[in-house]
Amino acid sequence: MDHPPTHLVVMGVAGSGKSTIAAALSQRLGWACAEADEFHPQSNIEMMSRGIPLQDEDRWPWLRQIQQWMSTKAQAGESTVLTCSALKKSYRELLAQAEGHVVFLHLHGEADLLSQRMQGREGHFMPPTLLPSQLATLEPLSEDELGAGSLRLDISKSPEELVGAIIASLKLTADQAP
Ligand SMILES: Nc1ncnc2c1ncn2[C@@H]1O[C@H](COP(=O)(O)OP(=O)(O)OP(=O)(O)O)[C@@H](O)[C@H]1O
Ligand SMILES: [Mg+2]
Repeated sequence: MDHPPTHLVVMGVAGSGKSTIAAALSQRLGWACAEADEFHPQSNIEMMSRGIPLQDEDRWPWLRQIQQWMSTKAQAGESTVLTCSALKKSYRELLAQAEGHVVFLHLHGEADLLSQRMQGREGHFMPPTLLPSQLATLEPLSEDELGAGSLRLDISKSPEELVGAIIASLKLTADQAP
C-alpha cells in the first residue's frame, strides 16, 4: 500500500445506496468493509427491535465502537470502507477522530428518487415513511468537511460511475494481492 490508512465512510439517508457503493468500493480496492449497524450494543438492538427510536446518548457508545474498529485496522496498516448514515456533523466528528485519514462520501439525492429506490428493494426492514425524518435530521457536509477532502455525490449516476469518480477524485489505489 502506497498511502497511509484511509477510511471511506459512505454516508446518507436510507436508500441512498450506501451498502451498494461500499461493497463496490471494497471489492475494487480490496479493503475491509463493515456496516455500522453491526456495531450496535445489545441495548440498542433491543430498543430498535421494540420500535423505540434511539437518542443521541444511545449513539455515542455505538459510534465509539465504530471509531475503535477503524483505529484498530489503521494500526495494522489497513484501510477500510464503512457504511454509516452519519446524518449529523457531531457523529462525523466522532468518527473522524479514528486513527488514519477519514473521508466522508455523502450519497445525495432528491426525496423522490430516494423513495423510489427504497420501494424498489425487497426484504428490507426500513419503511419508506422514515425517509422524511431522516432528511430533516441530515446535516449536509459543511464547507470545512468538504475542504478536508470529503465528497458529495449525486446518486442519479450509476454505481459504476460513482465508484469510478470516488477512486479518481481521491487518487485511491487498490491493495496489492497478498
Ligand atoms: N447509483 C445507483 N443507481 C441505481 N440504483 C442504485 C444506486 N445505488 C443503489 N441503488 C439501488 O437502490 C436501492 C438502495 O440501495 P442500498 O440498499 O445500497 O441503500 P442503503 O443506503 O444501504 O440503504 P439502508 O440505509 O436502508 O441500508 C437498492 O435496490 C440498490 O440496488
Ligand atoms: Mg444498507
